[in-house]
Amino acid sequence: MNGRRPHPQPLSQRERGEKIIVATTNQHKLREIGEILGRRVTGHGIRVRENGKTFEANAIKKVKAIKIKPGEIAIADDSGLMVNCLNGKPGVKSARFATPPTPENLCRKLLNVMRACRARGAKFVCAIAVAFPDGRIRVVKGIVHGRIVAEIRGGKGFGYDPVFRPCGYQKTFAEMSPAMKNRLSHRGLALKKLKQLLSN
Ligand code: IMP
Repeated sequence: MNGRRPHPQPLSQRERGEKIIVATTNQHKLREIGEILGRRVTGHGIRVRENGKTFEANAIKKVKAIKIKPGEIAIADDSGLMVNCLNGKPGVKSARFATPPTPENLCRKLLNVMRACRARGAKFVCAIAVAFPDGRIRVVKGIVHGRIVAEIRGGKGFGYDPVFRPCGYQKTFAEMSPAMKNRLSHRGLALKKLKQLLSN
């Protein structure tokens, strides 16, 4: 020993115990985020017009709308379905693709507009923006590729789950257990990247 104190390692976000604020009031989303991050998270209702051209732009807009205090970090996500033969639609307008936007209406409208499409490739995309107390903003993304099936299948999940079958699987997301869907999904993948980012 040379008598000097060891150089302290920088503390990780978990060790510093920063509070995580999530821009959502959706309890389902909050629970999923908390479970995957292994952290307690707090929901925060915000109102912004999600009129960005990309998922990233909308996630950043939402996260900037949260005023964080010292010791807090904020998270916001935006996600949706992009269908190849529709040139990426419904995309950022996924939630508003049918009126009223019930899961059944969204799926029926999608199958309807895809009647003439022989190529059925599609992907779910999720962008998560994180705002740190020092003003930095980072974005992580998760993508799951798959196909749009010919008919609505399964009763679990939400949104377009009954018409999306991920590559390499026979079941649609709506036919899978929530745990299985979380392992494969765009949101699950983005959250795993976020967990990695927060532990660095
Ligand atoms: P938001 O990111 O919560 O605004 O979701 C946008 C829309 O994309 C939702 O309303 C759904 O219609 C669709 N969507 C996003 N993620 C999923 C998913 O995991 N399954 C099915 N539909 C989804």
